[in-house]
Amino acid sequence: MKNIRMMLLIFAAAALSGCDNNNQKTAAPEFVFSYAENQAAGFPTVQGAYKFASLVNERTGGRIEIQVYPNAELGEEQSVIAQMQFGGVDFSRVSLSSLSEFVPKYNVLQLPFLYKDAAHMWRILDGRIGESFLAAADGSGLAALSWYDAGARSFYTCDRPIRRLEDMNGMKIRVQESALMSSMIKSLGGVPAPMPYEKVYSALQTGAIDGAENNFPSFESTRHYEVVKYFTVDEHTRVPEVQLITSFTWEKLSLTDREIIKACAVESARYERDLWRERETVSEEAVRSRGCEIIRMPDEERTRFMEAVLPMYKEFCSEYTDIIDEIRGS
Ligand code: GCU
Repeated sequence: MKNIRMMLLIFAAAALSGCDNNNQKTAAPEFVFSYAENQAAGFPTVQGAYKFASLVNERTGGRIEIQVYPNAELGEEQSVIAQMQFGGVDFSRVSLSSLSEFVPKYNVLQLPFLYKDAAHMWRILDGRIGESFLAAADGSGLAALSWYDAGARSFYTCDRPIRRLEDMNGMKIRVQESALMSSMIKSLGGVPAPMPYEKVYSALQTGAIDGAENNFPSFESTRHYEVVKYFTVDEHTRVPEVQLITSFTWEKLSLTDREIIKACAVESARYERDLWRERETVSEEAVRSRGCEIIRMPDEERTRFMEAVLPMYKEFCSEYTDIIDEIRGS
């Protein structure tokens, strides 16, 4: 008797496990997709990814589940892009510096000193030019969905501060693995050290490099301020970031699902932009309070940096002078 009661209990539990609180059967998702991120969980871009995943899940009634992997768990950015071209990862958010190595036209949007300020960059990305650059990924095995914010990048150094152009002489500066970024350092008189984001902390700590460059939130989140004394706000680049989906996944989705995914990507990007603005101020304050000296570069000196890199416009983007002129004139 006891055994029969036990068996009935086990059957009841098994039957209930397929039901949610409303006694409805919970269907398994039709698709489970991966989303690669190289930032830490609390970072604005990762928060944007979580938002994106939850919007998609909600709007497809649970048919599409997106699992976000932060902290470069699926690999460094360049490796993620390469995996995506073969369908190994479904979604990601990457810096345009990494993507430009696969789709060189993106170099245009990351040229140093291209935008006057954040508002100028967003006018471009939110307008016709931004839309046409999203389409530029077509044919590369990737589809670009939306623009994420990554603010402005500036130099930071361990032992010697950068105040003037001459201070760049011989400085070994880490850059992203992008030919354009290496060329920028050479044009400024420094020695480029391209390496993945994940390797920068130890390179700074061991003295393998003299400095690096990034935005305040990344500088804070990676704790580079622990091994760096000076942050020079020169804002030499604004490198937008882009949400990508591999064409393998894009092509197996219905038109309705594609529309949902595109709309959720754009909505998550707006959410990320708001978080970004707040985080920039918080991060700057945080690194200052931890003893990092923040140097604001005067405009006259910034102009000298700008003049030094201008020949790169022709070197990297000679086919796109019309678009560049249009951006600069907007
Ligand atoms: C930013 C960007 C990252 C990128 C990093 C880098 O932090 O958000 O995606 O990898 O710059 O300098 O490599």
